[in-house]
Amino acid sequence: MKLWGGRFSSELDSQAAQLNNSLPFDYRLGEVDVIGSIAWAKAIQKANILTGAESEVIISCLERILAEFRSGEFDFSPSDEDIHTAVERRLTELAGPVGGKLHTGRSRNDQVATDFRMWVMQAIDSLVGQLVGVLQALGKRAEEDMGVLLPGYTHTQRAQPIYLSHFWMGHAEALLRDRERFQTCKVHTGVLPLGSGALAGTSFEIDREFLAVELGFAQVSRNSLDAVADRDFAVEFLFAASLLALHLSRLADALILYSTAEFGFIEMADAYSTGSSLMPQKKNADPMELTRAKAGTILGRLTGLLAVLKGLPSAYDKDLQEDKQPVFDVADTLLVLLPVMAGVLSTLSIRPQKMRAALDPAMLATDLADYLVHKGIPFREAHHLSGRAVRRSAELGVGLNELPVAEFQAIHPVFENDVQEVFDFERSAAMHGVIGGTSPTQVKKQISEFWKRLASG
Ligand code: ARG
Repeated sequence: MKLWGGRFSSELDSQAAQLNNSLPFDYRLGEVDVIGSIAWAKAIQKANILTGAESEVIISCLERILAEFRSGEFDFSPSDEDIHTAVERRLTELAGPVGGKLHTGRSRNDQVATDFRMWVMQAIDSLVGQLVGVLQALGKRAEEDMGVLLPGYTHTQRAQPIYLSHFWMGHAEALLRDRERFQTCKVHTGVLPLGSGALAGTSFEIDREFLAVELGFAQVSRNSLDAVADRDFAVEFLFAASLLALHLSRLADALILYSTAEFGFIEMADAYSTGSSLMPQKKNADPMELTRAKAGTILGRLTGLLAVLKGLPSAYDKDLQEDKQPVFDVADTLLVLLPVMAGVLSTLSIRPQKMRAALDPAMLATDLADYLVHKGIPFREAHHLSGRAVRRSAELGVGLNELPVAEFQAIHPVFENDVQEVFDFERSAAMHGVIGGTSPTQVKKQISEFWKRLASG
């Protein structure tokens, strides 16, 4: 029995029915659909549409259906066209004709928008929980790896010495922003559409404020046309997810690079490495490569939904049924990527000697220019003079630190014996002591503030 069979004289074509059927994916809204229906039963009783006895029957049957979903015992029928139809069909099986009263004043349009928002709010809670796990892993790494210097890169070229803890904290900053974005998205999602009816609002005296409190929404939607059409929350969710995935992909890429034999800065634990079917020596970082790849798939989901929504006419259109798969798929993917990243971070081993060996005195050329600035030379000229020293050291085939003082003085008489002091990586790092810089004092401050921010979010 279709929910809408009255005006039709023939059955829906079977392939059209297949196209229409959203149950293959929206079955995941089962629990929130029933929870929403329990609240709705209470609201229509308050509006005197159900007697106390009727609402008791309906609610106890809905509670049984909820238990069936939770235990995986709910039986779907081939005639169920979506999750809402399935729940109402089952309710009528259990409660008899009184079950037919539940949908009074409600449309699947406001119902699905409500269900989906509830699902997204729950998904955000799970994702944020897993994201915190990654942040904790980064925080612990930053604490444990204190004092380890390595080259910082720009353009993938050795740039300036930095502390490894500074590098970990850099990635943590991006992920803290992601957490905040998800939290903001949750606030935007917490606006209740139920009571908007198909599009015009409901004609019964429904207490929407009551429904909002029952279902954990902080606000009630203010315009029924917008309420049934608005999928901004889903787009915001996918955007927050895309940025998070992008941040994970950048971290993954650095870890892949640093684990190559050429860098050798880190080694991933066997639990997060895979082998080659042909080459016995291979240890591949497949989980990190897939993390890098999935960021692409996830942002495709974002652009896909934006394209579906673009240009839709007012209120509900069936196009909106396409909103769920991208969100489900992206949430599922992130719920795998996040714990894997946390595991990779907490189990990898670092090779501080390799990092140290990659520090080249030429990476202190900027410090050399700064030395000249302290002697009163304008920076632009100091930059040029330091560059000449780099060139001279290359001509002589020696490190910048090995260039004799006489050679420095031939470049500019302001150079003195104290120029040797520049060639000390620890000293260089310590001098980068501004807020946010790589000096040990600043890095320690970053870490302690990081834990506070993590706990207060
Ligand atoms: N399965 C539909 C969806 O996911 C439910 C809403 C159907 N509304 C309608 N007027 N046909 O969007």
